[in-house]
Amino acid sequence: MLKNINKDNIPEHVAVIMDGNGRWAKKNGLLRTIGHKNGVKSVREVVEASVELGISVLTLFAFSTENWNRPKAEVSALMELLVSALNKELPTFQKNNIQLQTIGETNALPKGCREKLTEIINETSGNTGLKLVLALSYSSKLEIINSIKSIAQKISDKTIKPEDINESLFANELYTSDYPNPDLLIRTSGEYRISNFLLWQIAYAELYFSPKLWPDFTKADFLEAIVEYQNRERRFGKTTEQIKN
Ligand code: IPE
Ligand code: IPE
Ligand code: MG
Repeated sequence: MLKNINKDNIPEHVAVIMDGNGRWAKKNGLLRTIGHKNGVKSVREVVEASVELGISVLTLFAFSTENWNRPKAEVSALMELLVSALNKELPTFQKNNIQLQTIGETNALPKGCREKLTEIINETSGNTGLKLVLALSYSSKLEIINSIKSIAQKISDKTIKPEDINESLFANELYTSDYPNPDLLIRTSGEYRISNFLLWQIAYAELYFSPKLWPDFTKADFLEAIVEYQNRERRFGKTTEQIKN
């Protein structure tokens, strides 16, 4: 599969909505939390593939603001899983030069999670390879509202004028200000929706929907998505002829 990939057209930023852990568990007669545990393997495969391909940023939607409304036991299990996975993966991050970062309202996470995240973010901050960005307690609408609040405050403080507002000033207020916009957005589990993920940032992303449930999603599936991406023509509003020249 790797040989089908054009090394000159690797997406810089890939974002993934990792969906279908619960259905995978149900299908196999297991508890939802076991589904989440089995999803970690898929994370590992996608991260590994991203390192091999030389992708710069991989953003994984791990927990949405809306996911706080799930049963308490499932939320706790997810938080514990996050801590244990981070503990296990630190050596791999170091070996593969991976920098861990987060987007979202991470202040809302339990203390143990916040501390573990801070620790791993600090430990990997000198790494210069793949930026692995976990979206945790993330809501795109909330991110946009917070940006508007911050801009309104700056106007009220007279540090900027309303006419200074443009796309780049706005994008600078988002959690994702340090990253290029996603080139490719993958969602698993056969759902065709965005679920409040990176609404502003995916304005021109290529969308790829896989029928596979997240724990069944492999490196080969990820590479297939990359190949599909490479077969798309990104026109950004222009004509094919303009793109070709
Ligand atoms: C994705 O799997 C993981 C999270 C949202 C945390 P789900 O838990 O949403 O699985 P389904 O969609 O119920 O199958
Ligand atoms: C989106 O999945 C959030 C994550 C993958 C973390 P959900 O399972 O929460 O999305 P909906 O509810 O099906 O839209
Ligand atoms: Mg789901």
